Amino acid sequence: MLKIVVCVSGGGTNLQAIMDAMDSGKITNTEIMAVISNNARAKALDRAKNHGVPALCLSPKSYPDRGAFNEAFTKKMEELNPDLIVLAGFLVAIPPAMVDAFEGRIINIHPALIPSFCGVGYYGLHVHEKALEYGVKVTGATVHFVDKGMDTGRIISQKAVYVQEGDTPEVLQRRVMEEAEWVLLPQAIDDIANGRIRLSGKSV
Ligand code: GRF
Repeated sequence: MLKIVVCVSGGGTNLQAIMDAMDSGKITNTEIMAVISNNARAKALDRAKNHGVPALCLSPKSYPDRGAFNEAFTKKMEELNPDLIVLAGFLVAIPPAMVDAFEGRIINIHPALIPSFCGVGYYGLHVHEKALEYGVKVTGATVHFVDKGMDTGRIISQKAVYVQEGDTPEVLQRRVMEEAEWVLLPQAIDDIANGRIRLSGKSV
């Protein structure tokens, strides 16, 4: 059984896709131990509670400085000790100590085809604004391992999505979510849970 912790910051549609996939059997052999959000008002926390999944908030605002938050966040994750950490719309930098402790066992969904439109400042709607500004005809989403960089870890999977005439950032974001993010992330978790993708440093 793959034990996962899902980290969220906002609407939680990627978390919902994971939970729905577990309910429908598209994800097997997996248990969500907890959902952690940096944002107490994240709708994702409500989605977790509605699904009976333990949900907690660890906000940087509750700590004197980022170092203290990073220490508490890493300590909590080590206590939970999941096989896999899933960043699903999580907007906080992962503490280097957590990357070290869970090397090769943290994955993230990014709403673009890395290496395009990624890195510092490229998150949420900004990604789609930049893609439209550039005039790309194809965008998409990427699931990748998390290292100490920003969106720089080894790529696991990608899915292309066509930009359509007249797309606004909001319309494009929704299409990328529906056609790519909500497909790729559950698929990656199921692949890991069932040995089709090997995690370094730990047999599952
Ligand atoms: C999505 O664009 C996701 O790709 C990005 O954050 C946005 C919100 O995701 N990482 P969610 O609805 O909170 O899962």
